[in-house]
Amino acid sequence: MDGKESTLNFDGKDVALPVKAGTIGPSVIDISKLYGQTGAFTYDPGFTSTASCESSITYIDGDEGILLYRGYPIEQLAEHGDFLETCYLLLYGELPTASQKADFDYRVTRHTMVHDQMNRFFLGFRRDAHPMAIMVAVTGALSAFYHDSTDISDPQQRMIASMRMIAKMPTLAAMAFKYSIGQPFVYPKNELDYASNFLRMCFAVPCEDYEVNPILSRALDRIFILHADHEQNASTSTVRLAGSSGANPFACISAGIACLWGPAHGGANEAALKMLEEIGTPDRVSEYVAKAKDKNDPFRLMGFGHRVYKNYDPRARIMQKTTHEVLNELGVKDDPLLEIAMELEQIALRDEYFIEKKLYPNIDFYSGITLKAMGFPTTMFTVLFALARTVGWIAQWKEMVEDPSQRIGRPRQLYIGAAERDYTPIAQRG
Ligand code: SDX
Repeated sequence: MDGKESTLNFDGKDVALPVKAGTIGPSVIDISKLYGQTGAFTYDPGFTSTASCESSITYIDGDEGILLYRGYPIEQLAEHGDFLETCYLLLYGELPTASQKADFDYRVTRHTMVHDQMNRFFLGFRRDAHPMAIMVAVTGALSAFYHDSTDISDPQQRMIASMRMIAKMPTLAAMAFKYSIGQPFVYPKNELDYASNFLRMCFAVPCEDYEVNPILSRALDRIFILHADHEQNASTSTVRLAGSSGANPFACISAGIACLWGPAHGGANEAALKMLEEIGTPDRVSEYVAKAKDKNDPFRLMGFGHRVYKNYDPRARIMQKTTHEVLNELGVKDDPLLEIAMELEQIALRDEYFIEKKLYPNIDFYSGITLKAMGFPTTMFTVLFALARTVGWIAQWKEMVEDPSQRIGRPRQLYIGAAERDYTPIAQRG
């Protein structure tokens, strides 16, 4: 399709707009010169039909329920690889050789500690502060400690900052969790793999040894893979926009965490579990499905629906399988929340409203049940999403910084406010 053109007739004038094709997926109509040619802007609140960039990192086919990281199907990566292999793939574009993987694991592992003065930031928070509030703060604060990796024009510093973010997020997340439950911070242990290290930093206590359950650490590693990247979603677009001003990577990731927190986005896993707890029993599911369909009721089924997936979210399928694995390993029989979730899914997928609007369970529908069974409180669910998505944010940020055509992002608007008018002195106002 490259080289083809489309023609827009605007105000009686034909305007030629170039069409660009990607490797797979929808082509794009390049409107970057439209304002200069017509004096008009395009209008697309929510960016439902707008491509913000060219990217080689992740591809989603929402109709077919396909998710590829650098061309590899998520199902194969989740089945055969581990999270740090996925991190390498997202950052470098290719699967690592055995020696490249060993070197990458070594480099990440040796960046897991944070500057000990970071501990003091936590003390300023109330113990019941939401861990996402803490994560926004301490992630941004990293830029105050790592001046040797905030010059984004230096490729070496960009890579060091990327490794530091991937390595330190589990440590900061575990510290946020420990702080919220009044337990001492647990330092990373370098001989453990990424997910095992995180589980130990969350659940070990100084007064006894902690044995990592390999089934749980494998399940958590897979959950991290599922959450690693997802094209230009709201938080990734936030990171790109922040990065387009030249802001340092730690500040950009902090902005991404803030955006992910919203219940329409990464906060949905916490909201979905709270919804299941509010429904309480399988026999009340129909009542809530009716609420979700009621135009006058703002209630939505959390963990259902997606801007891109108009089919089953492929991550939700793998998540559901992982949920059963974890519950079996933990000997959790007939988890009431799982029963409610399965009943809700069955009813919704047969309901005309959900079929017509193509609403399917998304990744957040089952993740909460799994994380709760592992011992994480609901307030930590989105923190784990942010932990896993950090590599995607960083890879997209690097791609944006290294894109020669990138400029500061600066959307325009359709102005519907007051026309120009003169100031009225206060004595003359009604
Ligand atoms: C994530 O973008 C990503 O890739 C995000 C993510 C990632 O990995 O980064 O996949 C992670 O954020 C997953 C989504 C988690 N959010 C939720 O589960 C919250 C519940 N779902 C929604 O609020 C909603 O589905 C969104 C926000 C996910 C998508 O919203 P859209 O694309 O703007 O769709 P919409 O709100 O315009 O809904 C279309 C219609 C509406 O009805 P009509 O106005 O056309 O009559 O579907 C209805 C909505 O009312 N609808 C729902 C619904 N979701 C949409 N009705 C009931 N329950 C729902 N969950």
